[in-house]
Amino acid sequence: MYRVIGGRRIAGEVRVGCAKNAVLPILAATILTREPVTIEDCPELSDVKNMLAILETLGCHIQATPEGVRIDAGCAGRYEMPEHLSKQLRSSIFMLGPLIGRFRRAKVTYPGGCEIGQRPIDLHLKGLRALGVTIREEHGMIYCDGQKLRGAEVYLDFPSVGATENVMMAAVLARGETTIHNAAREPEIRDLQDFINCLGGCVRGGGTDCVRIRGVSTLSGAHYRPLSDRIVAGTLLAAAAATRGELTLRDVVSSDLGAVTDKLRQAGCDLQVEEDKIVLSAQGKLKPFEISTQPFPGFPTDLQAQFMALACAIEGASVIVENVFENRFAHAAQLRRMGADIFLSNRLAVVRGGRLQGAQVQAGDLRGGAALVIAALAAEGESVIENVELIDRGYASLEKTLSRLGAQIRRIG
Ligand code: EPZ
Repeated sequence: MYRVIGGRRIAGEVRVGCAKNAVLPILAATILTREPVTIEDCPELSDVKNMLAILETLGCHIQATPEGVRIDAGCAGRYEMPEHLSKQLRSSIFMLGPLIGRFRRAKVTYPGGCEIGQRPIDLHLKGLRALGVTIREEHGMIYCDGQKLRGAEVYLDFPSVGATENVMMAAVLARGETTIHNAAREPEIRDLQDFINCLGGCVRGGGTDCVRIRGVSTLSGAHYRPLSDRIVAGTLLAAAAATRGELTLRDVVSSDLGAVTDKLRQAGCDLQVEEDKIVLSAQGKLKPFEISTQPFPGFPTDLQAQFMALACAIEGASVIVENVFENRFAHAAQLRRMGADIFLSNRLAVVRGGRLQGAQVQAGDLRGGAALVIAALAAEGESVIENVELIDRGYASLEKTLSRLGAQIRRIG
């Protein structure tokens, strides 16, 4: 649990670490090569720990090094995902592509839905079938046979991040050329491409809606530092704005945060943006704003909850539309416990912002939990936030980072 005393301004400077949503597919991709790989600055996140545990059960040797984590998949021999671990980590579905690429076979558990939606994988399976993989789904398991794996034209009905990544990884060692049309354009796709190319793969177009992969026969090892976490960066900017503070972020990729910094300016924040540094000041009166979440480069769904918390701390009516996930407003009920006035209708939320009071609240998912922290920082009085282990999935010691920035927040159990 976190105990937070609200009303303190966030002020100071922080270096943003590597992105959970870049590291997870990159870790999955390490199974593609028999040579050791070192992931530098690997973030201390529970989702990352779970992914490393999955790689270990598949036969990889994992070793902590001064630079980060060394993964040696040379001895990996299992292509069956451990059920108990893959249930713990929904994004273990990213193992599908690399297992098929390396072993031409895979057996994984059907990933469950989660707090924010059904999370279907139909686009993942459609893309893999286009590459010649035969897939049998029964009793909650997915059996893949990739003996006939070859390059192909793949058309995604929706620019799914995970489906794009799975098809990319399955195609790296396939015979021939693969083109993914309507690919997701998130920066984490570009980062996965850069990692695969560091291993000796041949991927082009990552970050655009058309990704081309020319199959190669083997891959080498690499030392690689994944991309900076734009969602952690956006979360900290929202916290600084909600507390009318001042924040300097270093080691960010500012061009990955264009929609976010634009929204903060619209809300009345002052921002100085350089290539790898963002300075926010929110001393003046802030204004309500409108958000419609979209695939990249639109406003990211992973910052919707945090900006709803910010809207609760700004006088006036803000409007939020969540277009990406069908059930991603669970944090609204907890924000209402803190005095927030939020109208919900399907994918629409109207927030009439004002004063928030501290309360006892519960995190229901990763980003919703981060939103409750932001609201507690802006609220009058004390809040207690339960289920903070959900926040640990995507934030390394968030309470320590915020304490260093002047917040009164402690982990109490
Ligand atoms: C990735 O999830 C991220 N996770 C999510 O971050 C992020 O919210 C999401 O991309 C969108 O940016 C990781 O990278 C580990 P999608 P993913 O496939 O790949 C539908 C966080 O908080 N869809 O782009 O699962 C799906 O239901 C997490 O860090 C299908 O219909 O997202 C959703 O409505 C949460 N069929 C939409 O597409 C499919 O086969 C976007 O999903 C796949 C997806």
